Amino acid sequence: MEQQLQQLKEEALKKIQDASDVKELNDVRVAYLGKKGPITDLLKGMGKLPAEERPKMGALVNVVRETVTEALESRMTLLEEAAIQAQLENESIDVTLPGRPAPAGNHHPLTRVVEEIEDFFISMGYEIAEGPEVEKDYYNFEALNLPKGHPARDMQDSFYISEDILLRTHTSPVQARTMEAKKGEAIKIICPGKVYRRDNDDATHSHQFTQIEGLVVGENIRMSDLKGTLDLFAKKMFGADREIRLRPSFFPFTEPSVEMDISCFKCGGAGCNVCKKTGWIEILGAGMVHPNVLKMAGYDPSVVTGFAFGMGPERIAMLKYGVEDIRHFYTNDIRFISQFNRTEA
Ligand code: PHE
Repeated sequence: MEQQLQQLKEEALKKIQDASDVKELNDVRVAYLGKKGPITDLLKGMGKLPAEERPKMGALVNVVRETVTEALESRMTLLEEAAIQAQLENESIDVTLPGRPAPAGNHHPLTRVVEEIEDFFISMGYEIAEGPEVEKDYYNFEALNLPKGHPARDMQDSFYISEDILLRTHTSPVQARTMEAKKGEAIKIICPGKVYRRDNDDATHSHQFTQIEGLVVGENIRMSDLKGTLDLFAKKMFGADREIRLRPSFFPFTEPSVEMDISCFKCGGAGCNVCKKTGWIEILGAGMVHPNVLKMAGYDPSVVTGFAFGMGPERIAMLKYGVEDIRHFYTNDIRFISQFNRTEA
């Protein structure tokens, strides 16, 4: 029996050495050490031996089992490492291949213009204020000196949700809300946001568009402050040699009210298609905050004054970039949008 065992060991070790991959080696393991293998058989047969031989033979079988197990394990480590090495060689990466481009998006032209306007006013010490798009009639109209039935409401056709709630027609209600909240303190804000009007969409009208309103309230705020601010703004947005012109206008919430024109940036004032041969381009509405508006928000118009202005970033973007139809901003045509993927705003 001892001899048989010795032979078995030799045979097993040889097969282990000869196994050329992990699978083959596993087969060897099952064949020799498995439940139906010869070593297990030998252990099972121990019962039939005379009692005095059992310990010696048992120890021998165990030694053979351990030797075969160890040989299996070290061969397994070797074969596994070889398999990984082979895989690494097979799957080597060609680092000289060009990378796949990652398409990068960019800011929408309107966002760009809004941010450029915001940056300018922030640099002048303004803060940004926001308000709800679904607004109360009170803040959209009444607190701005436009009581129910006022004829100037006709200038802003509205989407009413109920008698007292509508989609805001301008960003001016943020003025009224901020003044009410600040309870008499000085204010210097701009309010960017979406507004809604019941218009038929065409090249220059959209039922939804963007506005930026500015408001400054405090002691000694004068019309000349408004003019200086707008002049700087026009030069920043449209070029250092722009001039501005203020024309009398009407808004119920400002008195006096003006429209601001800039000298044409294309022809410099000589007259061309951009300025419709007038040399001037209308940019925004503005004025000194009406005393009634100040009073309604709890300010004393004999102590504080203020100015306000409101503009449409769509119009500014159309002029700046030569866009002919306002609807381009909203229809998400990638051919239009990607034209603005340049770094300058
Ligand atoms: N809210 C006005 C509009 O939408 C613009 C404006 C704002 C005019 C502030 C004067 C002062 O037409």
